[in-house]
Formats: sequence, structure tokens, C-alpha cells
Amino acid sequence: MLNLTFLGHSCFLLDDGNYRVVIDPFITGNPAAKITADELKPDFILLSHGHGDHLGDTLEVAKKNSATVISNFELATYCAGKGVEKTAGLHIGGGADFPFGSLKLTIAHHGSTLGGELAYGGNPVGFIVRMADKVVYHAGDTGLFMDMKLIGELDNIDMALLPIGGYFTMDVDDAAKAVEFLKPKKTIPMHYDTFDPIKADPKIYAEKVKSHGAECVILQPGHSYGLE
Ligand code: NI
Ligand code: MN
Repeated sequence: MLNLTFLGHSCFLLDDGNYRVVIDPFITGNPAAKITADELKPDFILLSHGHGDHLGDTLEVAKKNSATVISNFELATYCAGKGVEKTAGLHIGGGADFPFGSLKLTIAHHGSTLGGELAYGGNPVGFIVRMADKVVYHAGDTGLFMDMKLIGELDNIDMALLPIGGYFTMDVDDAAKAVEFLKPKKTIPMHYDTFDPIKADPKIYAEKVKSHGAECVILQPGHSYGLE
């Protein structure tokens, strides 16, 4: 079983009992977070892009836990330059095997500067994670794109983690369309309600994705779902 814990905003912990993989560890300063960054204790950190609400606690947490930061080449290089010992800089369309499973980077239509700095962070990405015989797609921050059809065709997605908050990313309607393209078995909405501009109603999303044959799991920050 793969245990998924929603930690608020776009931050998830994937835990198969052997490895702890944290995606976009924005805990400090995250109004939705219910834990502290010290409690993350990741073996691997996946970073979708450099914006502060995703980069978050990456540098401190990676150093403290000797965790490997996996991202695009530019962000991995940035983290290495800031003193993170273990990094893996992949890029879009590429993938690799890791002790927890495997990973492939997908496109995401968005920006990627570094935290508060207006420095180039490479192209933003999404992730296809294979872990504990499950396939999880974390879209990162993105607008709707047609190639989601291709992603859904290439991978039999068990769980799609999709932004629904609008303003910076897909809204509820576009995310529901994404589910039509991706054909995941299940989906968890993310990147909503953390801040005022991205208020959204996950129940409307849940209703809409039903017609595309997907089950929506709405998680409150701090809550987990066991993917069997
Ligand atoms: Ni962003
Ligand atoms: Mn964001």
C-alpha cells in the first residue's frame, strides 16, 4: 500500500513503509499546514518549480535529513549551490529509477523563478511517480494542456493530484477536463483555499470528475489516504 498524506497546498508525503518521498515541501508560512517542517523527515524531495509556495522548506529540510532533491536540472543545480549534498537534475520527458521506485518529469505550463528571487529556475514540471506498484501523477502548478491525453495514454494513473484553485493554475472546470484527458482511477484536488485568490469548492470538482469515471478523494491538510 502507498500512503499519501496531504500536507496542505501542493505538498504531499508518499510513504510506502520504506521510503518517505515529499513533493513541494511548503510548510513554514503555509497557512494550511498542520505540521512543522521538522516532522517531514523525507528521504527524497521532489520539487516541481521554484516559486516560494513549492520550494518552501526544501533547502533546510534536505540538509537536515540528508535527503535527495529531485527536480529539473536548473533547480537541482540551484539547490546544490545552496549546500544540498544530494541532488538529481532530470528534465522534461526524462526519468530515472530511484530506491523508492521510478520517476518521470512531465511538462507543466507555468513559471519558475527561485523563491523570492527573480532568477531563472528552468521550466516548471509535473511528476509521474511509480512507487509500491502505484502510479501517481502530481501536476505541479499548471494550466490545462492537451498533452495530458498523452500522459493518460502512456501511464495507467492510479491517482492524479491536480490543482483546482484557478488564478495561477487550472480551476475546477479545467481540472475536471484534465481528468477526462488523464483518465486516472482517483484524484485528489490541491492548490486551493491556501490563499484568498485560489478559493475553490472541491465538492463541485468531485461531482464533475464522477462523469469521467474517476473517484475524487478530498483530503483535509494533515489527513492521509491509503492507495491499495
Ligand atoms: Ni507556482
Ligand atoms: Mn503555486
